[in-house]
Amino acid sequence: MKILGIETSCDETAAAVIEDGTVIHSNVIASQVEMHARYGGIVPEIASRQHMTAMIPVVQTALSEASINLEDLDGIAVTHGPGLAGSLLVGVNAAKGLAVSHNLPFIGINHLEGHIYAAWLEDGVDPESDPGFPIMCLITSGGHTDLIVMRGHGDYQLVGRTRDDAAGEAFDKVARVLGLRYPGGPEIQRVAEGAPETEPFPRAWMQGTDEFSFSGLKTAVINRARKLGIFPRKNSDDEVDPVVVAGMARAFQDSVVDVLVTKTIAAAVRENCAGIVLVGGVAANRQLRETLVASSPVPVAVPPVELCTDNGAMIAMSGRVNYRNGRRDAWDLDVIPNLRIGAPTIS
Ligand code: KG4
Ligand code: ZN
Repeated sequence: MKILGIETSCDETAAAVIEDGTVIHSNVIASQVEMHARYGGIVPEIASRQHMTAMIPVVQTALSEASINLEDLDGIAVTHGPGLAGSLLVGVNAAKGLAVSHNLPFIGINHLEGHIYAAWLEDGVDPESDPGFPIMCLITSGGHTDLIVMRGHGDYQLVGRTRDDAAGEAFDKVARVLGLRYPGGPEIQRVAEGAPETEPFPRAWMQGTDEFSFSGLKTAVINRARKLGIFPRKNSDDEVDPVVVAGMARAFQDSVVDVLVTKTIAAAVRENCAGIVLVGGVAANRQLRETLVASSPVPVAVPPVELCTDNGAMIAMSGRVNYRNGRRDAWDLDVIPNLRIGAPTIS
């Protein structure tokens, strides 16, 4: 079964062709990072316009790299939420046009479920196989920090999420304070490596809950940066002492990783989970990956770094699972910018 997956929820225009959930024939990503970097974050209108210009070439490249024609596909899967409305519209409309013109099944995918299924892409494991449920999924990205119990394929229960900033958002905002580029995650990881140990930042444990909070940590970073005289800077190009920046980046990363790892393991143990899945853009973080794998009493599945951040392969994979479960969407499928995953057990 060959599925084309399309992803445009944020700032990557992506398309991929996968076969039977085991072969990634192509996985093309046009990143807009350079466009947004100069603003220090994503500008929604720029994102929509960039998707519009990149969409067709990205799909064409994905098909030609896979040596597949549209008529050879079994279906088209596309992210229809959550994400930026204007960005989602571009991908969904493109997918509808391609599907209607080639009489192909069309399936709208929850971006968060897509992230989860990136963990199945890694080993080329058949998605219908039972890896042992329940699984505790930590989805940690620029928009989400969610703990989800997965009790079976397509069966999700949201047990906790962030009360304020997502972990990736905190990485991006703190990077800005430290004078580092957008996106902040990879930059903070880079400068934190080999940095001297400095005074730790606090951890928001949100005791007794599976919830997270990162805005207090962000404020602590800002307060220390002010005290050290590196923020605010008169001129955004002003040099900041790299040793100070590295020390703060390390202490910040330590705090985020400690909280994510400790709380995910505690939730997995409490729910008698057979395993943990770590996904989303922040799952690309080396320290997070290594610490979780080293500390978890149950097996941990983490996609390769390039499948942690947004991509079309994870959407195609989720499309395959949904297709096999009989899901088909009608042409009036809308985008849902605040689409949730799983029945929440929290308010
Ligand atoms: O999943 P993703 O590509 O897009 C969303 O759905 O949000 O995640 C992007 C986020 C950004 O906030 C970025 O800073 C973060 O993932 N990120 C990282 C790393 N690579 C990307 N955070 C920490 N360490 C990294 N190596
Ligand atoms: Zn994402």
